[in-house]
Amino acid sequence: MSYQAAVITVSDRASAGVYEDKSGPAVAAMLKEAGYEVVYTSIVPDEQEKISEELISCVDEKHCGLVITSGGTGLSPRDVTPEATRAVLEREIPAIPQAMIYYSLQITPRAMLSRAVAGTRRNSLILNLPGSEKAARENLSAVLGALDHALKMIAGGGH
Ligand code: MTE
Repeated sequence: MSYQAAVITVSDRASAGVYEDKSGPAVAAMLKEAGYEVVYTSIVPDEQEKISEELISCVDEKHCGLVITSGGTGLSPRDVTPEATRAVLEREIPAIPQAMIYYSLQITPRAMLSRAVAGTRRNSLILNLPGSEKAARENLSAVLGALDHALKMIAGGGH
């Protein structure tokens, strides 16, 4: 089964056009390669309300099964993606970010600085990735193989 996916880049600089978004296209390419249909991409600034609104729109209106964000998971005062995501999640899936950190700590100790979250809203899975292209690729590669089974279960498909 092919799932529809949305990729949201969260970055003040990329949304203002002063910085080229590299992580969003890289994530979209990895998803396409894995068989997902990427039906929507966008760039939003690091504003909690805007991020939450975009997530709600992707799930409730566009009905994307998988909604991935990239950026804003760190420790700077403007990093609010985890808070914006938690505000719209119905159920958290803590082991997805744990798996990303477990994998990433073998690459860099800075992996522990990401506060990424994942979880469900309605029949969709929302997942935060860090913002650099390298970090986004590495984190997604750690969990991508389990996401289609997660989506099947979220849709009521059982095992
Ligand atoms: N994870 C992997 N696999 N590779 C990385 O280079 N960078 C880390 C971390 N996770 C990194 C990583 C760094 S330096 C930060 S600050 C956090 O992700 C948060 O990144 P963000 O603020 O761009 O979301």
